[in-house]
Amino acid sequence: MKVKNITCIGAGYVGGPTMAVIALKCPEINVTVVDIDNDKINAWNGPIENLPVYEPGLSDIIKVTRNKNLFFSIDVEQSINESDMIFMAVNTPTKETGEGAGMASDLKYVIKSSKMIAKYSQSDKIIIEKSTLPVRTAEKIKKIVNKNSRGIKFEILSNPEFLAEGTAIQDLFKSDRVLIGSDQTESGIKAADKLSEIYERWIPKEKILKSNIWSSELSKLASNAMLAQRISSINSLSALCSKTGADIDEVSKAIGMDHRIGAHFLKVSPGFGGSCFKKDILNLVYLCQFYGLDDVAEYWHGVVKINDHQQKRITEIIQNYFIKYSLEKKISILGWAFKKNTNDSRESASIYITYQLLKLGFKVNIYDPMVSRKKILKDINAIDQKRGELHENYLSNIEVYETLESIVSTCKIITILTEWDEFLSIEKISSDYEIFDFRNILSKNSVKLRL
Ligand code: NAD
Ligand code: UGA
Repeated sequence: MKVKNITCIGAGYVGGPTMAVIALKCPEINVTVVDIDNDKINAWNGPIENLPVYEPGLSDIIKVTRNKNLFFSIDVEQSINESDMIFMAVNTPTKETGEGAGMASDLKYVIKSSKMIAKYSQSDKIIIEKSTLPVRTAEKIKKIVNKNSRGIKFEILSNPEFLAEGTAIQDLFKSDRVLIGSDQTESGIKAADKLSEIYERWIPKEKILKSNIWSSELSKLASNAMLAQRISSINSLSALCSKTGADIDEVSKAIGMDHRIGAHFLKVSPGFGGSCFKKDILNLVYLCQFYGLDDVAEYWHGVVKINDHQQKRITEIIQNYFIKYSLEKKISILGWAFKKNTNDSRESASIYITYQLLKLGFKVNIYDPMVSRKKILKDINAIDQKRGELHENYLSNIEVYETLESIVSTCKIITILTEWDEFLSIEKISSDYEIFDFRNILSKNSVKLRL
């Protein structure tokens, strides 16, 4: 039987763009994205310029698919009931309390979604893990859904998502690979083939990789860990460069020209941000510890520790400069998103560096082309809720600006923390300031400090 109706639980950075692309490529399939967040669903159904996820190319797809074969809804029951295939793209943050707090993945949203599927399903379903999950999560999902009392058959697949924010649409159009893990049973392999048929509409068959379900779950964590490890490697070397007079961009280029190493993911930065690298590596560390692999756990933990070190190092570089030249503690931060071309600021280095600067008594002006003032203040507030280290009137020390032009004249020191293309024009706007370019995107001779 052909797949006619798909549901995706979770209308976030993964659920929204991936389902938009499936709807575009498979016009005969109805795709419904459901979420418990009413405001988010309203925003997906609202004006095209205010979608909850900013991704280049996304709004063009939404324009042609929305309310044709792509729907955003809060009616979870009806959508689950009517679908043949259910993707789970819910968030899997780091656990905040209980066993494994601060390390393990919090699976509460996955468990809740599984319970909803068990409760509302009236016919057989293929359930697809799209979220990034600890290896062997499919076992937990299976136990929950199999508790339904109607004799319904559920097949669980792992189909991790490898898109990067800011390039999500092109990543989905031209994936390096699509990974589908299944039980190696007749019905498991059949379910994997059904999912494969969907991707085959636009992904060459040889790029669709099928594996056992545990390999698929673990490959996702391992991919993120390997990517993040390269960033921590280059960032750790940037610290040595600044002691020795070596130039990290030159070192990075020299390393990357070895075809065995390759040039990608060797760009020095204020540390990796984003919702996944840190939480996925911590999850990997926890899994290693759980299986008694303490040395392996320690190895991967180093990747996160170096990332924290890089953020602290940048705060120190700034502080030392201000002390050296006896400057008034006032600074402009350019960039709040964790990378360019996204409105996502989760785990952005800007949050941590700004927080440290506020603690040191700085007044901080902030500008980002895509992250709203409300979100910036919410991010600072959230970190202080956890740490409680700021003076209660810290908000009077933050000013958020709406344009690049308006922020540049507000103080003498400007710090670039996100590599937005717009910031490349800063050299032309005025020259009455000093630039700290911690993304190393501007010409060396126009900046005062770089990594
Ligand atoms: P997100 O927070 O943007 O979206 C998750 C959505 O799920 C939220 O809108 C939330 O309200 C919704 N949700 C939670 N529980 C629900 C429930 N019971 N019913 C309905 N909706 C529910 O998260 P995201 O960035 O899209 O990430 C989702 C998963 O994909 C995570 O596991 C993440 O690690 C993984 N992932 C993310 C990216 C990325 O670039 N963001 C890339 C690859 C994989
Ligand atoms: C990352 C992975 O690249 C995706 O394959 C994966 O699907 C996703 O995580 C996920 O699981 O969430 P994402 O975090 O969206 O994607 O973006 P990246 O391009 O990987 O950038 C992550 C962070 O690393 C950013 O802060 C970026 O600035 C930083 N980075 C990246 C560097 O500091 N140096 C680099 O050379 C590359």
